[in-house]
Amino acid sequence: MNKNGVSEEDVLADLAKIKLLDTPYERVLSSMCTYPHPIAASVHQDFLETNMGDPGLFKGTTILEERVINLLGKLLHKPDACGYLSTGGTESNIQAIRAMKNCSISKKPNVVLPSSAHFSFEKTGNLTGVEMRRARLDPDLRVNIDSVKNLIDENTIGLVGIAGTTEFGQIDDIQQLSLIAEENDLFLHVDAAFGGFVIPFLEKHYSYDFEVEGVSSITIDPHKMGLSTIPSGGLLFRDKSLLESLSVHTPYLTVKTQSSLTGTRSGAAVAATYAVMMHLGMDGYKKVVDNCMDMTRYLVSGAKERGFSTVIDPVMNIVCLKMDSPVELQKRLLLEYGWRVSVTHNPQSLRLVVMPHLNKDIISEFLDDLASLA
Ligand SMILES: Cc1ncc(COP(=O)(O)O)c(C=O)c1O
Repeated sequence: MNKNGVSEEDVLADLAKIKLLDTPYERVLSSMCTYPHPIAASVHQDFLETNMGDPGLFKGTTILEERVINLLGKLLHKPDACGYLSTGGTESNIQAIRAMKNCSISKKPNVVLPSSAHFSFEKTGNLTGVEMRRARLDPDLRVNIDSVKNLIDENTIGLVGIAGTTEFGQIDDIQQLSLIAEENDLFLHVDAAFGGFVIPFLEKHYSYDFEVEGVSSITIDPHKMGLSTIPSGGLLFRDKSLLESLSVHTPYLTVKTQSSLTGTRSGAAVAATYAVMMHLGMDGYKKVVDNCMDMTRYLVSGAKERGFSTVIDPVMNIVCLKMDSPVELQKRLLLEYGWRVSVTHNPQSLRLVVMPHLNKDIISEFLDDLASLA
C-alpha cells in the first residue's frame, strides 16, 4: 500500500483499465455464471454492509434469508425445508456431506457418488475425511445404478445424485437412488447447483427434489441460473437435525449458534437473491429457461448443419460436441476469435453452456468461427 492514498479518480481509472482484461460474458460459452439480473445488482449495492454471520445485528436481512429459504423450498417441493444461503455449490456440497458425517456413527465413513460429480466433492472428501466412492456412468452419462449398489458397504453413510451434471447437463435417476437410499438407510444429497433453477422450468418433468421421499438435502445456486449476484449458493435440508448437526457455539455474537461454514457471510447476496426471485417469479424464470433452451436447440441444429454431432441430446442448456482433440480447438477459438469454451475428457468433447448472456446472433457468429477452424 502507498503511504499516501491515491485519488479516487486515479483508482477508478486504474480499475477500469484492468477490468478490460476480463472476458465479457458475450464471448463466454464455458461458464455457469452470468450477468446478475439488474434488480439483483442494484439491491446487492444497498445491502453491502450486512453480515449474515451475526444475524442479530441484521434482523431485517435475516428475515430475507428465511424468505429465500422458503422460496427455494417451494421451488423444490418442500416449503418447510430448512437451510441457509452459502457461498456457492462447493460450500453447500461440503456442508451436506459434513452433516451426513455428523449424523452417522461410522468411524470410516464413505459416500457413493457419480463419477460425473463436480470436483467440489474432492475438496469435500479431503476436508471431511469421508471417502468419496465414484460410481461409473451409463452410456447416457447418468450414474449406473448397479455400480452405486456395488460400492455400498457397512461404512456407507450416504449417496449423492446430480441434477444437472457440470460437464454434460445430465440428470441422474434420483428416484432410483432414493429407493436405494431408503433400502439401506442412507442419506441422499442432490447436487442441483446448476439444475435447480433450470429443471423446474423444462417442458419435461423430472422428479429430482424433495418430492422424492429419500432426498435429504439439496444444493441449489441462485448465482448460476438464478441470476443472483455472487456469492449466492443454497443448501436445503428436509430435516432440521441435519442442519443442527452443523451448528457450533458462538460465544461472542448476537446469536448462540451458527451452522454455516463461513463466519462472516454476505447479506447483500441474500437480499439480491430475494429481490430477483420475487421479481421474476415462476413465469419470469420459465421465460429465462425457455430462451436458453431455444438457443440450445438453435446451437445444436447449427452445429449439426456444420457437420458436428452431440455427445447426448441436451437435457438442459449445455451442449457437448463430439471431438477427437477438443483442447487444440479450444485454444484456437480463444487465440483467433476470443471465444471461451471448455472441454470434457471422458468422452472428449467441446462443452458449451448456453447462458442468458448469449443470443442467436452471438451463437451464429460462434458457429461460423468454429466451422472455420474444424
Ligand atoms: C453441479 C455443480 N455442483 C457444484 C458446483 C460448484 O459451485 P461453485 O463454483 O458455486 O462453488 C458446480 C459449479 O459449476 C456445479 O456445476
